[in-house]
Amino acid sequence: MSATVVVGTQWGDEGKGKFTDLIAAEMSMVVRYQGGHNAGHTLVVDGETFALQLIPSGVLYPHVLPLIANGVVVDPKVLIAEMDMLEKRGVSTKNLKVSSNAHLILPYHQELDALHERYLGENKIGTTKRGIGPAYADRSMRVGLRVQDFLDEELFRNKLTSALEYHNKVLTRVFNQLPLEADAIAEEYLNIYAPRLTPHVVDSVGLIHDELEKGGNVLLEGAQATFLDLDHGTYPFVTSSNPVSGGACVGAGIGPRNIERIIGIAKAYVTRVGSGPFPTELFNEIGDHLVDVGHEYGTNTGRRRRPGWIDAVMLRYAARINSLTELAITKLDVFDELEEIKICVAYDVDGERHEQLPSNQTLLHKAVPIYETFSGWGCDISEVTSRSGLPKEAENYLSFVEEQVGVPIGMVGVGPGREQVLHFGG
Ligand code: GDP
Ligand code: IMO
Ligand code: MG
Repeated sequence: MSATVVVGTQWGDEGKGKFTDLIAAEMSMVVRYQGGHNAGHTLVVDGETFALQLIPSGVLYPHVLPLIANGVVVDPKVLIAEMDMLEKRGVSTKNLKVSSNAHLILPYHQELDALHERYLGENKIGTTKRGIGPAYADRSMRVGLRVQDFLDEELFRNKLTSALEYHNKVLTRVFNQLPLEADAIAEEYLNIYAPRLTPHVVDSVGLIHDELEKGGNVLLEGAQATFLDLDHGTYPFVTSSNPVSGGACVGAGIGPRNIERIIGIAKAYVTRVGSGPFPTELFNEIGDHLVDVGHEYGTNTGRRRRPGWIDAVMLRYAARINSLTELAITKLDVFDELEEIKICVAYDVDGERHEQLPSNQTLLHKAVPIYETFSGWGCDISEVTSRSGLPKEAENYLSFVEEQVGVPIGMVGVGPGREQVLHFGG
């Protein structure tokens, strides 16, 4: 019985989907434990690209049971569209399961997300405007609707009416918008979405534990990342859930002792979408090169991702917070044409050297990276198949990252394809 967690170590888009898909070959169940359709996880299999938002990245294997657990916020319209997209492309979603305890995203969540961003103006978070924050806020306020409410029409209508009474006051009196109609939302959710989704609704906690008890391998797929975590990220420029590995316990209903392996996914450089501090951010032609070669545009929103050098201070923090057992480095191939590659080893803040992340965020805003510089390798590594086949400059870079973070590298990505991975082994 064992569970494995895949977790982002930076600000998202590290390649969690790709590695989840790869590792899922040996899994019986793949579980999303937090976030919602703010995520965009890309898989490339036999040259075909799949961009997933809500459905776990194990869905491509017929032997894997994909499960959306209690910690996820589900927009049923998006989930159904994603199921339809996969079915059309020949991927069965008949085994997909959705926790009865997962919370629903409702139309007012999306509207409030956009209005709140507009209200914040220059201080905006740069959210995906998918209604994630407002849906989790309703969960905390205890006025959220859950997937299980689909099963009781009267209860659904009552909860919706009372939640909307409050939200309509905010929409009309604070934001000067038109109120939303409870009946119209109830019709859409109860008549269109509920009949499609109820056959997939399960007791997810029971299902996961049954699987673990019978010796199955369960993979927990994090969305977003450590530095977007509500508690441990660069607050307030974070998402509204807990992507860190501890979040997998809460979001899926397992205990820490169920987890054996925790794989931190780290891009060979760093990207960030939306606002917030980013000490190693690059504003020069090297940053543009990383964006161009790495195709660093949001999977869903199309926004340009902000690029920067890899940051060992961040990765040390991610190693601690998540209890990482290994690192998987992605997109090493994006460096192929660079003459020099930098790794941030510490921050200089007002003349003082910091090797660990400062807990006072004002210091992070002022942090000046201290770099070690490495030579590039100047050749195409996308077809390399083993660690020993890497140019010595690439090996130097990876060994230094390993040493700086204090966590072994288990896998390295040299291209978007499922097979473009080097397995380092112990
Ligand atoms: P996620 O949100 O962490 O799953 O990452 P995204 O899918 O949003 O972004 C990662 C992007 O990098 C996707 O387009 C992947 O296909 C691509 N990718 C993943 N690993 C590699 C790699 O090793 N090399 C290259 N060139 N691309 C990769
Ligand atoms: P994956 O799983 C990158 C960012 C948004 C914004 C902040 C809050 O693909 O790595 P939200 O809509 O969650 O309230 O936005 O979080 N963000 C992501 N950035 N990858 C993601 O997911 C993200 N999900 C949210 O850009 O800065
Ligand atoms: Mg992504």
